[in-house]
Amino acid sequence: MARKAKELLDIPADDFEMVVRIVREEDIAVARQMAKQLAQGLGFSLADVTKVATAVSELARNIYRYAQTGKIMIRKRLEENGGPTIQVVAVDRGPGIEDVDLVLTRGYTTYERSLGIGLSGIRRLMDFFEVVSEVGTGTAVVVEKRRRKF
Ligand SMILES: Nc1ncnc2c1ncn2[C@@H]1O[C@H](COP(=O)(O)OP(=O)(O)OP(=O)(O)O)[C@@H](O)[C@H]1O
Ligand SMILES: [Mg+2]
Repeated sequence: MARKAKELLDIPADDFEMVVRIVREEDIAVARQMAKQLAQGLGFSLADVTKVATAVSELARNIYRYAQTGKIMIRKRLEENGGPTIQVVAVDRGPGIEDVDLVLTRGYTTYERSLGIGLSGIRRLMDFFEVVSEVGTGTAVVVEKRRRKF
C-alpha cells in the first residue's frame, strides 16, 4: 500500500493528455470542463459525460478541501475491442486518509454541511475505482469510465 501511494503520486504528468493543477477553487470548474470536453470528444453518451465530469469535480473538490493543492490528470486509452476508456488520476501530497474503507462508507464525511456525492458516489458512477492513500504521504484516486456502445 505504502509503495503504491508513492508510485501513483510520482506518475509523470507527461503521460497524460490533460493536467489541471488544483490550487484555487476556480480550478475545480476548469478540471470539470476539461473532463467533459474529452468525454464529449470521444463520443460518450450525455449521461456518461456528466458522470465523468461529476467524478472529476468531486475529486478536485476533495483535493482543494483536504489537501489544498494537487492535480487532476486525465488520459484516454483505446481498447482493442470496444470503445475508448477515460482514466482520471487525482493526486495530492496532503494529509492522506487514515482509514480508506471507512471514508468509502456512504454518507461518511469529516466536512460540515456536505452536499456532494463523495467518494462512495464516484465509485458507483465509474467502471473502475481505486483509492491509495497513506497518512503523511498523500492520496491518489484512480477512476475509469469506458464508452458504452449506443
Ligand atoms: N484528497 C483527500 N485527502 C485527505 N482526505 C480526504 C481526501 N479526499 C477525501 N478525504 C477524506 O474522506 C472523507 C470522505 O470524502 P468524500 O468526498 O466521500 O466526502 P466529503 O468530501 O466529506 O463530502 P462530499 O459529499 O461533499 O464530497 C472526507 O471527509 C475526508 O475526511
Ligand atoms: Mg468530497
